[in-house]
Amino acid sequence: MFTKETYMNRRAQLKKTVASGLLLFLGNDECGMNYEDNTYPFRQDSTFLYFFGLPYAGLSAIIDIDNDKEIIFGDELTIDHIVWMGTQPTIKEKSERIGIPCTQSAKSIESYLKNAMAKGQKIHFLPTYRAEHKLKLMNLLGYLPKPEEASVPFIRAVVNQRNYKSAEEILEIEKACDVTADMHIKAMQMLRPGMRESDVAGALEDIALSAGGGLSFPTIATINGQTLHNHYHGNVVKEGDMLLVDAGAETAMGYAGDMSSTIPVSKKFTSRQKDVYDIQVASHLAAVEALRPGIPFKEVYELSSKVIVEGMKSLGIMKGDADEAVQAGAHAMFFPCGLGHMMGLDVHDMENLGEVYVGYDGEPKSTQFGRKSLRLGRKLEPGFVLTIEPGVYFIPELIDLWKGEKKFTEFINYDKLETYKDFGGIRNEEDYLITESGSRRLGKKIPLTTDEVEALR
Ligand code: GLY
Ligand code: MN
Repeated sequence: MFTKETYMNRRAQLKKTVASGLLLFLGNDECGMNYEDNTYPFRQDSTFLYFFGLPYAGLSAIIDIDNDKEIIFGDELTIDHIVWMGTQPTIKEKSERIGIPCTQSAKSIESYLKNAMAKGQKIHFLPTYRAEHKLKLMNLLGYLPKPEEASVPFIRAVVNQRNYKSAEEILEIEKACDVTADMHIKAMQMLRPGMRESDVAGALEDIALSAGGGLSFPTIATINGQTLHNHYHGNVVKEGDMLLVDAGAETAMGYAGDMSSTIPVSKKFTSRQKDVYDIQVASHLAAVEALRPGIPFKEVYELSSKVIVEGMKSLGIMKGDADEAVQAGAHAMFFPCGLGHMMGLDVHDMENLGEVYVGYDGEPKSTQFGRKSLRLGRKLEPGFVLTIEPGVYFIPELIDLWKGEKKFTEFINYDKLETYKDFGGIRNEEDYLITESGSRRLGKKIPLTTDEVEALR
């Protein structure tokens, strides 16, 4: 945990911004995988972690701005809990650790809120993403609120704090990035024909867990890189395949790393793989080059998309004017996802609070296929931490669909594209901090170019 002052200062800033009402924070509970006592690894809610730092299940909190009160609600462990899971500090000790002297039992939050509502206080709550939060809200408010009833001033205030990473947060993120880089370097070193994808996934997860934290998201290690989020690890890899690895570590304090790499199963890429790989790297480097305060990330996405179109033109797969193709959305055949996202206590930072607030500062997102998946579009500012992860994907079902619809025939040579239908997908991903003058890569460098990757094979 950070010092008490960090959490006190964060809460003071939040109170000042929202200015009135009562802020409700629901921590996470243990969650059974297949029966109650066999739980998923516990992960505290990230906003709760940010303002209260306590990585324990069963807590909730209130910041009553109108009455200048901060309260942690929770129950002491019973002897049965202690026998099963070990002991913990008392609720009082936990709360004092973060500068909150006032604690009450878990159940007391109900009467506190009922009194506040009876007095006409505004109850600010955040969007929910777990069933237990919905049930709790229903119980506390007396009805199940619709998602749009979550408090926009509360969301915006939280986003406006968490989007700007402090020096101590950047240190934590960089720790996560270093472990994440080790995971990718290990994958590049160990991959051999005849292994299963799960051999690689297991070795990477070993590194993350051995470093004292966990994973920031479920590992992707797949020979089917054309599927953007493929968590199947049952294939045996063979000469000529490429393994796409997208994996990240989370520190014990909950900060994320997130990197991707694409590795030839043979010692070297084939020349066809190298052609496409080089296009992806050129797109990646163009994006990194453009990172600086003031540039809208939407523009960085346009730049990197244009490099992909130019590359596809050089292979004879696309044709026509690259700017027009990108504006029309034809590039999304190969790049149907975003270029990157904010990263912090969540791998996609604060996605539960709404991409429009986190990544677009309240402006509407595009609804065009491809562009609509860009999680970040706003002007970049110092303190933002984000990923750069363009990809080039050949998705047989998408090729068939668009070809059948004769979509973008002015930009796509479908006959040539047919010959790449079995290609798979390529993605490389790094994490960057926006600085006052430009950007800085976070964590150790992982091999990016084909030469750099092949040197580890
Ligand atoms: N690396 C996981 C993701 O960005 O979705
Ligand atoms: Mn990512």
